[in-house]
Amino acid sequence: MTKLFSNYKRAAIDFASAQGNYLTDTTGKTYLDFSSGIGVTNLGYHPRVNQALTDQVGNILHQPNLYYNQLQEDVAGLLTGDKDYLAFFCNSGAEANEAAIKIARKASGKQEIITFQNSFHGRTFGSMSATGQDKIKQGFGEGVPHFSYAIFNDMDSVKALANKETSAIMLELVQGESGVQPADKAFVKALSDYCQETGIYLIVDEVQTGIGRTGKLFACEHYDIEPDIFTLAKGLANGVPVGAMLAKSSLGGAFSYGSHGSTFGGNKLSMAAAKATLEVMLTPDFLDTALENGNKLQVKLQEVLSDKETVTTVRGLGYMIGIETTGNLSELVQAARDKGLIVLTAGTNVIRLLPPITLSDAEIEKGVAILSEIFD
Ligand SMILES: Cc1ncc(COP(=O)(O)O)c(C=O)c1O
Repeated sequence: MTKLFSNYKRAAIDFASAQGNYLTDTTGKTYLDFSSGIGVTNLGYHPRVNQALTDQVGNILHQPNLYYNQLQEDVAGLLTGDKDYLAFFCNSGAEANEAAIKIARKASGKQEIITFQNSFHGRTFGSMSATGQDKIKQGFGEGVPHFSYAIFNDMDSVKALANKETSAIMLELVQGESGVQPADKAFVKALSDYCQETGIYLIVDEVQTGIGRTGKLFACEHYDIEPDIFTLAKGLANGVPVGAMLAKSSLGGAFSYGSHGSTFGGNKLSMAAAKATLEVMLTPDFLDTALENGNKLQVKLQEVLSDKETVTTVRGLGYMIGIETTGNLSELVQAARDKGLIVLTAGTNVIRLLPPITLSDAEIEKGVAILSEIFD
């Protein structure tokens, strides 16, 4: 009998170990991982990150945010390069989005925030209220006010909601949880221009799309935009809990001494893992190869799946891929597991793939072959 809440639907599989892009369960069965947790272990189970963690545990585990933290400075530096952003570290995507909502409200002195229908931004009250899906909010009573929900990829609907009290517009560049829906390039460009013209802050939630997931360090790079604020979590420390909110330094005054904080945010363990993760990703050519392989995976899936009766579309960006299907999602996920492949779902009709961005050609072939079999 479980002593845990039933807020997750758990498969009767417990993973005992992992190496590279493979997981092994307690019965000894191995699986090729096309999920990276839920888009977390973007490098696979990587020796360099593991070594950084081991080294850090041997030195010091915890230090409060009352002291200078070189690791936080290093990670912020790797994330921002020569761009004019400041970073705040926390422990999850929801917390990162809370920080984004708070800094936008405080820096602008306004409260209204426009997000999008079918978006997902987290489960805390603020991030849940930002989320444009009723089912996530059911039963929890009144949410945080002053959010409104535009239609994704529809600039007119954004303009219809914006007014002089609008502080920010917040979006995922690929809506992940609701079904892997990439934003249109022209829409994002128009949105970014509109924010610049009006002084409304642009917040990009890169919790799922960031840290190499789409074949670039940030999905923003595909769209050629520089948001005022962006958030990260999932892949940032390749499996260790972490979150980050980055904002243009001109907003820095809103997060002055005492305005926001977190006991564990930016702790040495997560920062050591994040630093190692970013150092691997920023190795010359690493992300170019990831983008190439992610595209290759998507093209192969399109080739192999396009004539399957139950596959409607294959879409995505880099290594963030959705296979829309009329098939039964639970049965498909189970069939993939039986054949040794771990996949995810999104929305009501999408098999979601968030593989490690380190897949070899052989692993791509293997995953595609299994997916082809399960859709037969
Ligand atoms: C786009 C996006 N934002 C926020 C979150 C929430 O992150 P966390 O579960 O770390 O709080 C998620 C999680 O799936 C996400 O995909």
